[in-house]
Amino acid sequence: MTNRGELALSLENQLEKMFDLKHCLVVANATLGIQLVIKSLNLKGQIITTPFTYIATASSIVWESCTPVFIDIDPISLCIDVTKIRKAINSSTSAILVTHVFGNPCDVDEIEIIGKEFGLYVIYDAAHAFGVNLNGRSIFSYGDVSICSFHATKLFHTGEGGAIFCNSKEIYDKVYDAHNFGHHGYEDFSCLGINGKMSELQAAMGLSILPYLNDIINKRKEIYDYYFEHLANINGISVVPIRNRADWNYCYLPVVLDREDLLLEIIKGCNNHNIFQARYFYPSLNTLNFLNPVECQVSEDVAKRIMCLPLHTYMTSLDVDLIANTIKATLNK
Ligand SMILES: Cc1ncc(COP(=O)(O)O)c(C=O)c1O
Repeated sequence: MTNRGELALSLENQLEKMFDLKHCLVVANATLGIQLVIKSLNLKGQIITTPFTYIATASSIVWESCTPVFIDIDPISLCIDVTKIRKAINSSTSAILVTHVFGNPCDVDEIEIIGKEFGLYVIYDAAHAFGVNLNGRSIFSYGDVSICSFHATKLFHTGEGGAIFCNSKEIYDKVYDAHNFGHHGYEDFSCLGINGKMSELQAAMGLSILPYLNDIINKRKEIYDYYFEHLANINGISVVPIRNRADWNYCYLPVVLDREDLLLEIIKGCNNHNIFQARYFYPSLNTLNFLNPVECQVSEDVAKRIMCLPLHTYMTSLDVDLIANTIKATLNK
């Protein structure tokens, strides 16, 4: 049922091959994966991060007794604004931990340069980025280590679950022991560990979905494109553009409204038809008082005006018509 059985190992093996990466470690969920990485790399002090992400990114930093330093986001990609990172680095900075927001890749080239320049670990919260490629290689191959979520709401899922991806044997060995209570063999312990293992039930779910992955992505792309036809020429709403040279996974359909009141009205209109969409990500994390708040104007502004429209493989064109018409009716008022 668990303890790294045949199915968990098979899933790891298939994912390593699929993404051409040396190491994949499946874990109970991505939040625990992020915490394991922070703990295993012995990160201390300040960690540079983004306020426009799910709370798990920043709460993991605080949970591991480090301080998140929020840097504002780039208004186009919605990922961290790399031009602002250098100024925030000081002697107590130990890492850059940032999110490929909605699977849209960060400016990985510039982040790599900064990481090398200051000797900082680069960790990607790649929770949304399953199957995304940049410059023809898996997005998980950038930085020192990436953590993906396999939560049920994700493109590929194991109910709850996630994986840590890296090419470094040293990093892999550290997280490997730590995710299994610190065991290094049956009777030996190498470090302080926790139970972060993925169960066989979770792995079975993942293995049953994996063969359909291309079909899932293609179907989502079809629905995404159909939405796009509807929304492209309407004033007041814009679709978040994906970085050049990226093969994206169509995991979400984030749209930004010109004003928050329009967003609220669209949500209300859709709710009247029993359609529920997520204000994702809201609120901007830099506004939460337990997460070392600072001002991040772009993130705060975008967080108030963005939502993800419903997108799943069983949607019909009629579903999209209904949602798009509700949006149009609100914006044309
Ligand atoms: C950006 C981001 N990071 C981390 C997580 C946490 O993932 P999990 O639910 O697998 O712990 C999520 C979950 O939605 C997420 O969206």
